Amino acid sequence: MTVLHKDFLWGGAIAANQIEGAYDSDGKGLSLVDLLPAGDERKEPLFNPAKALSNHFDFYPSHKSIDFYHQYEEDIKLFAEMGFKALRFSISWPRIFPNGDESEPNESGLAFYDKIFDTLEKYDIEPIVTINHFDTPYYLAKTYGGWYNRKTIDFFLNYATVLFERYSHRVKYWITHNEINMILHIPYIGGGLIIKDEDNANQIKYQAAHHQLIASSLATKIAKCVDKDNTIGCMLAAGDVYPNTCHPNDIMAAVQKNREQYIFIDVQARGAYPNYSKRMFEELGVTINKEVGDDEILKQYPVDYISFSYYSSRLESGDDAINKHKSSGNAFASLKNPYLESSNWGWQIDPVGLRVTMNQIYDRYQKPLFIVENGLGEIDEVQDDGAIHDSYRIKYLSEHLAQMLEAVKDGVPLLGYTSWGCIDIVSAGSGEMKKRYGYIYVDRDNKGQGSLKRTRKDSFYWYQKVIHSNGEDLSY
Ligand code: BG6
Repeated sequence: MTVLHKDFLWGGAIAANQIEGAYDSDGKGLSLVDLLPAGDERKEPLFNPAKALSNHFDFYPSHKSIDFYHQYEEDIKLFAEMGFKALRFSISWPRIFPNGDESEPNESGLAFYDKIFDTLEKYDIEPIVTINHFDTPYYLAKTYGGWYNRKTIDFFLNYATVLFERYSHRVKYWITHNEINMILHIPYIGGGLIIKDEDNANQIKYQAAHHQLIASSLATKIAKCVDKDNTIGCMLAAGDVYPNTCHPNDIMAAVQKNREQYIFIDVQARGAYPNYSKRMFEELGVTINKEVGDDEILKQYPVDYISFSYYSSRLESGDDAINKHKSSGNAFASLKNPYLESSNWGWQIDPVGLRVTMNQIYDRYQKPLFIVENGLGEIDEVQDDGAIHDSYRIKYLSEHLAQMLEAVKDGVPLLGYTSWGCIDIVSAGSGEMKKRYGYIYVDRDNKGQGSLKRTRKDSFYWYQKVIHSNGEDLSY
């Protein structure tokens, strides 16, 4: 008997704003990322959009991305060849509601996703649909202040209702917001927030997060009304925070840092803000403005399962002077863990951290888990014969999957595993193509040059074998 159940959902994950391109085709409105450039220039508008969004940049990587909009058939066929049982993808909100505040959807946008579902059905691939993956329409950010404005809840529900009504018979697993806690770290793409220097950033971020939480609960309510078999998940950018040393102050600092992520899932899985949030908000100078009935909404409509991304663990000290040495290779800043190696983008590699994280999350919530992102963003070299020998990626994935199996043996119920960027796509953080996660290489560079030709990497054949053996054969 294998460790994993026979219906385990093996597959890959992608997001509309990083893969589709066709940024203004068939009535689509602007996505938040459509104004972001690539490489070093991206940092300022990504982290400080109030200052730099109006700048003109020579190249916007999302405008064409890898042209999945036109090449989805070939791409999904390749996923099927690897044996995918599931594909996690997102629907582009501004493709369906170009500005976000319209009352009627853009039929051409829906027609595109009809074709995606048809193609997935042809290959018997289960869709895992993220409703909002860093993709609030830019118009809502500019005109309404994004998720800080309570009206955005209604705009989101209007959009989500269209999806539930049209696709519930084709989709079982939904995810409301991608990496909901990232609104604290990248508030522009996380929540359509354009925060100015003089603003109380914490107030804006947590208030906007409250609106996302209410929206997620109400979407759960609507989804169940449309079809009781709809299954709704939250999505956390996970990765346990370790204490820097065994000093008690470091332990407490790690507990508190972990709460910055768990506060979201405490609400979504347990249905209420946790006790610690009172002091946390007081110390941050945050007052959540709630409407009558908000607490009941959160209580009544918790999620069915917890999905999460895992790339790395993090390290926290109780000493501010030491924390000043954190590096932010990832949007999450962390101290350097001396026991771990890092990728070329400074992301620390910790397979055991995946087992730790899975156990922590399950111990806390006792709901099924779903790993919907994990992977290694690295530079790939194409050999003269066209081959791509990405042994470093295979090693990373194999070691993480081995720890995933350990966690399942520990007793953690796991619905599936969809590795991130199963085909090379534009990086969310850096906008680069050079930071590749895929099993399938896409010929396109950081400046948008290249034929867009797809090529199977060594990891393609390795993952095919892993899926075929239902995770029993991780060898390489
Ligand atoms: C997650 C996001 O944060 O990490 C993805 O959900 C993102 O959208 C992924 O692409 C990897 O990050 P990056 O910056 O390497 O693309």
